[in-house]
Amino acid sequence: MVILNDPKLAFELLRDRSNIHSGRPHQNFSCDLVGWKNATAMSPYNDYWKIQRKNITKVASSNVSVTAFDRVQEEEAAHFLMNVLAEPDKLFDHIRAEAGTVILKITYGYTAENRGKDPLVELARKAMWAFAESTVPGKWAVDIFPFLKYLPEGFPGTAYRKTGREMRKMLFDCVEKPYAFVKQQMREKRAKTSFLSQAIETIGADDEYMGFVHKWTALALFTGGADTTVSSLMTFFLAMTLYPDVQKKAQEELDSVIGAERLPVAADKDNLPYVYAVMLETHRWHPVLPMGLPHTSDAEDVCKGYRIPKGAILLPNTWWYTHDPAVYPDPMTFNPDRFVQTRTHNPEPDPRNFIFGYGRRICPGRHVADNALFITIAQSLAVFDIKPTDVVPKVEFEPGIISHPVPYECRVEPRSEKHRELIERSEERYPWEESDAKELEGIM
Ligand code: HEM
Repeated sequence: MVILNDPKLAFELLRDRSNIHSGRPHQNFSCDLVGWKNATAMSPYNDYWKIQRKNITKVASSNVSVTAFDRVQEEEAAHFLMNVLAEPDKLFDHIRAEAGTVILKITYGYTAENRGKDPLVELARKAMWAFAESTVPGKWAVDIFPFLKYLPEGFPGTAYRKTGREMRKMLFDCVEKPYAFVKQQMREKRAKTSFLSQAIETIGADDEYMGFVHKWTALALFTGGADTTVSSLMTFFLAMTLYPDVQKKAQEELDSVIGAERLPVAADKDNLPYVYAVMLETHRWHPVLPMGLPHTSDAEDVCKGYRIPKGAILLPNTWWYTHDPAVYPDPMTFNPDRFVQTRTHNPEPDPRNFIFGYGRRICPGRHVADNALFITIAQSLAVFDIKPTDVVPKVEFEPGIISHPVPYECRVEPRSEKHRELIERSEERYPWEESDAKELEGIM
């Protein structure tokens, strides 16, 4: 296992030599038993993975293709504001619902439940929990003692299989149910355009292999997109609870550029440099994947005189790259000004160079993620005041490949009556749609 503590090494190995160092570690439990090896993020570096990446690039490759999703994102950000206004105590549920709803619409053309829990959003939450559990190194006996997989069922030491099968069912439900939904909608000529409907249209009805590739690619968007943005938004609300001056400064910018007659949208990005810097600082202050995702080496290599054997696991220490005081002075403080150009200060490095990973494996959803974050951050700051309750939150984060803030308390209130009306009025522009949850019932 090689921990890369210098970002230059991460770039040299994971980006510049990514023809060698783009594999993923194989775990008997998570990859084989649960089935995560089929998902883009866990797939070995092979042709199957390459087709998946090409697929994703078609929908999420650049800022340009992502603008196609602006409307979905803006609609769901407005619904998020309405939900927070109605039930401010359930902030985290609303964050999860927003992230899930956007990605479900983009990926499957599926409209999630507006209020209350949606079966697919819940399924993804459980599958991601199972992902985190199943990939903990050394947790599952069969990863340490591979011979266990050859023992007959019920033999001492094989109890892990029951848990593995339960996790597998969750994962396969996540893959199959939305796929069946899209196919049914297409048969009935009611499907909304989505990543999967477009992908299905391009393959012949009997190409089983491509069907398999497409539904697992869809899962990559679905699961890759939901939990990560949830963590970022939780971090943003935590920072705003603790840094009222930052909040005030961002609101002053929003008031002077946008006013209180409309909500900010993606197209306002260039005119809101401080709000944009709040988003960058959210990425930096707590990188969602503090140690990235591990890469593996498919061939032996030598770097700075060190031998890196075939099969080595390479871990970029992303958290350190964004907290090195030589690069980001006073790194534990949430300070968006570090990204703002002034006459006396050059912006510090863009944390997105690190937090989305490296080389051929770099996060393909990074433009979608940035768009989602910017819109929700700008709109929330425009209309809400975010304050601590009597219990001031601690800055604490949970362990895991995808790391979230430890749940905390905060108060989210409209900034004024005028802002409350602005949120309520946004329903005219972005009316609630009927959810597709019922359609799923026949399938689930
Ligand atoms: C704040 C949000 C996000 C962060 C910080 C993030 C970060 C990352 C990181 C660090 C990786 C691993 C890259 C590597 O191995 O070097 C990754 C992979 C991936 N991400 Fe994201 N991501 C985010 C949002 C999204 C979204 C919105 C989507 C989908 C729409 C997505 C889909 C994926 C997929 C499919 C992979 C696997 C790529 C592969 O193994 O080839 N991510 N992400």
